[in-house]
Amino acid sequence: MAGSHHGFRRNAQGALTVSGALIQPLLAEARVGTPAYVYDLDGIRAGAQALEASFGGAPHLTAYAVKANTAGTIVRTLAAAGTGADVVSGGELEVALGAGIPPRRIIMSGVAKTDAELDQAISHDIFAIQAESLEELDRLAARARTLGRRARLGFRLKPGVAIDSHAHIATGHDAAKFGIALDHVTAAWQRVDTHPELHAVGLSAHVGSMLREPTPYLAAARAVCQVALARRASGHALEYLDFGGGFGIDYGGAPASEPAVFVEAALGLLAEQGLEALTLLIEPGRSLVAPFGALVATVVQNKTEGDRRWTMLDAGMNDFVRPALYGAKHRIELLDAPTAEPEWRVVGPVCESSDDFGAHPLGPSPSGLVALRDAGAYGFVLASEYNGRALPAEVFVSGGKVVHVSQSPGRAAWVERRLRA
Ligand code: LLP
Repeated sequence: MAGSHHGFRRNAQGALTVSGALIQPLLAEARVGTPAYVYDLDGIRAGAQALEASFGGAPHLTAYAVKANTAGTIVRTLAAAGTGADVVSGGELEVALGAGIPPRRIIMSGVAKTDAELDQAISHDIFAIQAESLEELDRLAARARTLGRRARLGFRLKPGVAIDSHAHIATGHDAAKFGIALDHVTAAWQRVDTHPELHAVGLSAHVGSMLREPTPYLAAARAVCQVALARRASGHALEYLDFGGGFGIDYGGAPASEPAVFVEAALGLLAEQGLEALTLLIEPGRSLVAPFGALVATVVQNKTEGDRRWTMLDAGMNDFVRPALYGAKHRIELLDAPTAEPEWRVVGPVCESSDDFGAHPLGPSPSGLVALRDAGAYGFVLASEYNGRALPAEVFVSGGKVVHVSQSPGRAAWVERRLRA
């Protein structure tokens, strides 16, 4: 996906580099301490361009799932490479618009959009508000009527597809709170057809995250196509079909198909169903950004008790929660040395047993800086200030140089805010 200088890799001396540059000097240049997220914008751009190219001439919209990483620098980089946005809140909608994404390249998902958020989306006339329940359709019609507007919408369908992924990131099975159940679709069309304020333009599904290959994606997509064909047979036109995001990445343990493989499968299905004239939407988040970010931390100390070995970092679950929340394992590597036995249990400073990043081969006496790899998605966005710890800094790199820095708000700001609370 990315060119040879993109992303994080080891140089001839065995040191980890980003965009071809050593990481510690970049942090010094950026004047940030650890923990700090470091991102390779060139890798992000190249990945998005490759994905765009995979559509050939097919009408499409890549709606980047902004939730994965909301940094303006990253959203602007992706938008320049051709993506639109999938947002799930009024705040994310403002970020997407503020980053220069035209409203007609933005979709909004979410099971409990507030009236204020619906108003915002209707007023901007975004490409589609993806309704997730019959109840939401009624609220949407009421808001559009109040505003004197027509709302462009799609149904997010619940395709009844279970995936082999962590329960926290599976969204398409019957018990999920997401989406309109297939046996409610007739009632949903009735709502649309009786409310002139509602303009139904598409259908979507998203079965969940970390799909390693297209089979479950296609199962959900087939369900979407069936609903679309039935709607067409009743004489109504649609503009788009959206098969969601969820393309997995290789976190170092198991390979995952490239996003382009999912696109190819989706285009094949549309052609097979005679639906290729519709615009194909996808909603990738993780696959566009995860591999191109790392959380850089400092070893505070090592602790040994007989055979037990812990390496303790200045980054914890508050900075990066995926291991604690999903049992995710991210490669952790010393910046200056390749991996070597023995393994150390890498933990953070937070007073929770789940503040544990797993066992990693860090050599006889780990010290200095480490990188937690593939942290570009669902990293900073999920960070908190738990235990009185300031949010981490973010450093954006392109062409081997720091091009932007978002400083940590710092401990003093945290102390002041809490004292004022
Ligand atoms: N579309 C919808 C409707 C979604 O709910 C999501 C993710 C996406 C697209 C993007 O999925 P992606 O391509 O990034 O897999 N925090 C979890 C992942 C939560 C995903 C939530 N929804 C994690 O770190 O694994």
